[in-house]
Amino acid sequence: MSQSTLTPTAPKPTSPASQASQQTEEDFCPIQGFDHVELYVGNAKQSALYYQHCFGFTVMAYRGLETGSRDVASYVLQQGKIRLVLSTALQADHPISEHVLRHGDGVKAIGLAVPDARAAFEAATSRGAEPVREPWEETDDDGTLRLAEIQAYGETVIRFVERGSYDGAFAPRFERRSDAPGEGFGFKYLDHMVGNVELGKMNQWVDFFARTMGFSQLVHFDDKAISTEYSALMSKVMQDGTGKVKFPINEPAQGRKKSQIEEYLDFYGGPGVQHLACATSNIIETVTKLRAAGVEFLDVPGTYYEQLEQRVGKIDEPIEDLARLGILVDRDEDGYLLQIFTKPIQDRPTVFFEVIERHGARGFGEGNFKALFESLEREQARRGNL
Ligand code: FE2
Repeated sequence: MSQSTLTPTAPKPTSPASQASQQTEEDFCPIQGFDHVELYVGNAKQSALYYQHCFGFTVMAYRGLETGSRDVASYVLQQGKIRLVLSTALQADHPISEHVLRHGDGVKAIGLAVPDARAAFEAATSRGAEPVREPWEETDDDGTLRLAEIQAYGETVIRFVERGSYDGAFAPRFERRSDAPGEGFGFKYLDHMVGNVELGKMNQWVDFFARTMGFSQLVHFDDKAISTEYSALMSKVMQDGTGKVKFPINEPAQGRKKSQIEEYLDFYGGPGVQHLACATSNIIETVTKLRAAGVEFLDVPGTYYEQLEQRVGKIDEPIEDLARLGILVDRDEDGYLLQIFTKPIQDRPTVFFEVIERHGARGFGEGNFKALFESLEREQARRGNL
């Protein structure tokens, strides 16, 4: 397998040290935002159509047999600033095939844009991050792309991407398919990306992001805040110095029955990315388009909208539109937010999407957790997993 292309390396066991070292250094690992999210999928060609037609993405670039990529086919899709890379292996004995066998379709790499990939890699690994792939370069007529990878939860990796002056179609040896993403359904940027980890491991990963990349903890929800009759979870949200990248990390908590996090861990085969939250500036229009395209969302009990305004105060959007579309509302001291969650994007009850529109609020919809979890549990029960 060529080391000169964006190809996967074998997964490594994860062992972040559990001791917190209070890192006070300013921005030792500066991050400019999300660059891309790479999903390993069973059939990238069909997935690309799904994300185009059901979610409004545009195919920007491609690699495969026709472009000289003998072992992997990848489609780069974009909407607003959100870039998804869907990759599938062309042979059985390939790390992508093995990943799909274990996990189903799922997020393999969280690509973070950095000014200096080598410096980010060295900053993180010198603070205990496990190296997955030493810094490497990819070059073509459009310039040089510099990359490096470290291990995150489960088999997920964090990929540092230094675009610098690279001006080609995503990466060298990708063929350009489009010059600019279309309007799509109104997705603007990735608001946050949530990981599910095993019981007792949340703090280890909170510490990992703090220690190796200088993230700080934004907020913490305990199992009293997030619990229903059946399940509970705990969550901490880590963010980078600029606040552009937010990683909530969930772990299951004791409930009477199996929690939604445990269901994910069972079917994903371990920790991994649970959901990607895409920001829109017009959630009513975005969700109308998603629903028309066939995207399924978690049901919200009709009673949710009774006395909604008494609970969350005055909002700009007509409540009847929110009720019709199943959009949730929450308010914190900074403002309010609107959000909705899709059902899992595949048959395994694992990865899903959130659509979010913020009106000042900086939270994650804590006020909706209970209504939401009850809805999730109804789905879990239908799957025989509760
Ligand atoms: Fe979320």
